[in-house]
Amino acid sequence: MKNKKINILLTGGAGYIGSVLAQHLLEKNYNVFVIDNLTTGHVSLVPKKCIFFQGDFSSKRILKEVFKNRIDIIVHMAAYIEVEESIKKKRKYMDNNYKKFKIFLKFTNKYCKNIIFASTASVYKSKNKLIKENSIIDPINPYAESKLQAENFLISFAEKKINYVILRFFNVAGAHKKLKSGLVTNKPTHLIKRLCVFAVKKKKNFSIFGNSYNTPDGTAIRDYIHVSDLCNIILLTIPKILKKRVSKIFNCGYGKGFSVKEVFEKFNKLSDFKLKPIIKKARKGDVKILVSNSNKIKKFLNWKPQFNNLSLILKSSIRWEKKIKQENFK
Ligand SMILES: NC(=O)c1ccc[n+]([C@@H]2O[C@H](COP(=O)([O-])OP(=O)(O)OC[C@H]3O[C@@H](n4cnc5c(N)ncnc54)[C@H](O)[C@@H]3O)[C@@H](O)[C@H]2O)c1
Repeated sequence: MKNKKINILLTGGAGYIGSVLAQHLLEKNYNVFVIDNLTTGHVSLVPKKCIFFQGDFSSKRILKEVFKNRIDIIVHMAAYIEVEESIKKKRKYMDNNYKKFKIFLKFTNKYCKNIIFASTASVYKSKNKLIKENSIIDPINPYAESKLQAENFLISFAEKKINYVILRFFNVAGAHKKLKSGLVTNKPTHLIKRLCVFAVKKKKNFSIFGNSYNTPDGTAIRDYIHVSDLCNIILLTIPKILKKRVSKIFNCGYGKGFSVKEVFEKFNKLSDFKLKPIIKKARKGDVKILVSNSNKIKKFLNWKPQFNNLSLILKSSIRWEKKIKQENFK
């Protein structure tokens, strides 16, 4: 493949992580083909240099168009990701995240044998200790269940000589370092996003969901990873997959947990607008603690996190929120 540019198919490239990844891929001189149906994504987040196909990632019409080109590797980001919605609309999640992925993989594996699959830490059972890749699996909401079923289907396809890396992301936050992309949503559910939206909109009363978990301060604990570190993981994974046969699952987190209260307090110190915590009951589908053991990926990729600092993640998220407010981003 010398002198040839590597072609990457990125599904969900108009979404949060996908659009930041697209920027990173282009910066490394990859050709990026994006498929996104814009259900939660935004066309304005897709970098102009990408070749963009608007539509469903399981559409054979679109896939046939895309695969008129040589595709060297697929990064599958597209999914529905809202836990609470998944409890109310289980079928919507199973159809999109699992059944359509089956159709996608059955089609694409004829043309491309290399895939990176974006999965989630929510497939694991909550645990007081750091979670390893072989820790107990217990998807307690339909979103997590749909991702786990897709993972299992992909693994079963390994027999067809597919090279795969399944990345289980912990809680992703922050924006592209030059603020070229970040999270845009009109239904913020993630803690850091909600904090930023409330502060920028100057809405004082901030709901904290659950303060009687069995944790030191009673609030839930999560492992927050900066989106740029996550993109670096993917950038390091691509040459590995292209070079030799891999079939692996990795955690993507920092191995350090912060409680909701700790994140809230740190945010309030950094923000010019101060929020007031209002305790509400725990949300359905949320668990007590999810913190990664990330030794496996550090060893495999020689990955060294560059942004593993909560203040840095919060500052990056606030800057992005201010930018999209100023630009009246829709
Ligand atoms: N954000 C996190 O903290 C987090 C944590 C764990 C795992 N993940 C995983 O990372 C991936 C990306 O998440 P995100 O936060 O960027 O979400 P997002 O909602 O911002 O992006 C998902 C994108 O996929 C697109 N999409 C959904 N269904 C589609 C379909 N059928 N056809 C074409 N496009 C479709 C959406 O329009 C959207 O642009 C997901 O697979 C998610 O499960 C995210």
